[in-house]
Amino acid sequence: MAITIKDIARKANVSITTVSRVINQKSEGIGESTRKKVLEIIEELEYRPNSIARSMITKQTKTIGLIIPDIRNPFFPELVRGVEDFANLHAYNVFLCNTDGDPKRELEYVSLLKEKNVDGIIFTYSCAENILRLEEIVIDQNISLVLLDRGVEDQKFSSVSIHNESAGYLATKHLLDISHTKIGCITGPAQFPNSKARLNGYKRALKEAAIPFNQDLILAADYQMDGGYLAAKTLLAEKDITAIFAFNDLMAFGVYQAAEEKGLTIPNDLSVVGFDNIKYNQLLHPKLTTIEQSVYEMGEISAKILLEQITQGGDVKNKTLYLEPTLILRESTKKLEN
Ligand code: RIB
Repeated sequence: MAITIKDIARKANVSITTVSRVINQKSEGIGESTRKKVLEIIEELEYRPNSIARSMITKQTKTIGLIIPDIRNPFFPELVRGVEDFANLHAYNVFLCNTDGDPKRELEYVSLLKEKNVDGIIFTYSCAENILRLEEIVIDQNISLVLLDRGVEDQKFSSVSIHNESAGYLATKHLLDISHTKIGCITGPAQFPNSKARLNGYKRALKEAAIPFNQDLILAADYQMDGGYLAAKTLLAEKDITAIFAFNDLMAFGVYQAAEEKGLTIPNDLSVVGFDNIKYNQLLHPKLTTIEQSVYEMGEISAKILLEQITQGGDVKNKTLYLEPTLILRESTKKLEN
């Protein structure tokens, strides 16, 4: 027969409420000797709180949902780890949901997490339009929500991401500084705010260098290797470009493949810059110059903000946090000799 909270209360000769408050670390007003006695009896009887019963009392499940778009992309497991480590450290569990970038599945997972009574959701969306639907759900269900890695322009929710415009500027400025002026750009999905911001940084660097922006050098892809490969094939077929800036490392891997097929060597014939600095970059030859995202920290900070919202309620103002990007110079970029 499972030990219940009643058994603890009876043996400790205290009320069920006292035991519940000790379990939920809300023991202000309870004497230290009583608190210790309750904890000793919990250990002695090996009591494990029933999470459903506890949630009925505290109206909290101490569980958060985390929705990501692509578990196969090495960028996301690092993000998940940052969320999970912070959440576990603060006695919260994490339900991980992978949507494969399917907008319908995104909303299905939000509904499922609501049914599971999670205390909050951290969300990296694939469909910006779903954010509007989310607002209804979050408000009428009173669920705390933080956008991670992909924010929204109108700051309706707290969000944590890299400063994508600065990152796009850094990558492009580096190529301009080594004399490249015909720089192809393989973006993420055109409607994604983080992809739009990176492209704005690219444009700002060109403008600063008095180089006209040429829309023909911009191709949108899908943050996947095959998408990067197909876009690079198109860019390399027609344009006399000497450098390609890919908006994530997986697409940069596709650029390497297209360059090799065309008989181009990196960086002598083509300089390449990626984005994310995923750990597999080290396996590339030449090693990829890229933008470092503080991925683990972004995950940690998003969990911190969400838990603040959960524990402090609605009076926590929305926060839009940007982490600074870093350019990691390696071997895939080289000064253009005239
Ligand atoms: O690699 C996946 C990309 O999408 C990353 O650049 C990250 O910012 C995510 O939004």
